[in-house]
Amino acid sequence: MKTITKAGRMQALCARLKRESKAIAFVPTMGALHDGHLSLVRKARKLGDIVVVSIFVNRTQFGTGEDLDKYPRTVENDKRLLRKLDVDCLFLPDDHEMYPSGYLTYVETELITSILEGKSRPTHFRGVTTVVMKLFNVVQPDIAIFGQKDAQQAVVIRKMVADLNIPVKVVVAPTVREKSGLALSSRNRYLSAEQIERASCIYQGLKGGRELIKSGVTDSRKVISEVRRVINRTVGTVIDYISVNDANTLEKAGKITKEVLISAAVKLDGVRLIDNIRAKPGRKRR
Ligand code: PAF
Repeated sequence: MKTITKAGRMQALCARLKRESKAIAFVPTMGALHDGHLSLVRKARKLGDIVVVSIFVNRTQFGTGEDLDKYPRTVENDKRLLRKLDVDCLFLPDDHEMYPSGYLTYVETELITSILEGKSRPTHFRGVTTVVMKLFNVVQPDIAIFGQKDAQQAVVIRKMVADLNIPVKVVVAPTVREKSGLALSSRNRYLSAEQIERASCIYQGLKGGRELIKSGVTDSRKVISEVRRVINRTVGTVIDYISVNDANTLEKAGKITKEVLISAAVKLDGVRLIDNIRAKPGRKRR
């Protein structure tokens, strides 16, 4: 596995690979890799001739008071994991390489970035779209793989790709979960085994909501109260939001007539966790 730290070198290598008609599959990450990331890399290995992974802790997607400095950095272990998965190239720029002094340009997708996660984290998606656009320009991937765990991020990236005519196919891979059901996340390392068990109430709640929709319930308020009920019976939980939105556009779903995304953000003993589940309406509507 080649490790490249300079954007210019990475861009030149990828341009050469493209001239050789190699399909580049790309997995952007912030490191601290877990099985969720590794499942994206495995998918990339299946879809592309060349697999490129980036590790860059992108400060522009962290708000003031968020955990940028505390964000886990485990580069040597990450490299070891990526080598095992036969990754061809790791792009590992430093902050100055991505945001040199005097940096002034940002990419912003409107509306769908100010709801759900964007409501609690108003500058988050501007940072995500900016860095992903930059990474796409450097790596020039044919395919880019994102996780369903960050469902809103995936919808925002798809929208940016469509709106800006970026020649990249966006693939969204399923969420990988702990045995308890808790979605894998780099934040889970702040939780004890007992807390991981308790945090499974989020997935249990979402599944409860999906069951209602499958059974024919179309009123999203009923779905939200069911998810809330299940999460609230677990000690240590504080719900930030539970929402039901169109799975593709993120428009708020009042009456559920199409596939929806049920999403939740919950603090468990102070650690903020997000998760989501997609649900299709059942035949019998009530
Ligand atoms: O999902 C992430 O890890 C990040 O938001 C991403 C896409 C790598 C951009 O920094």
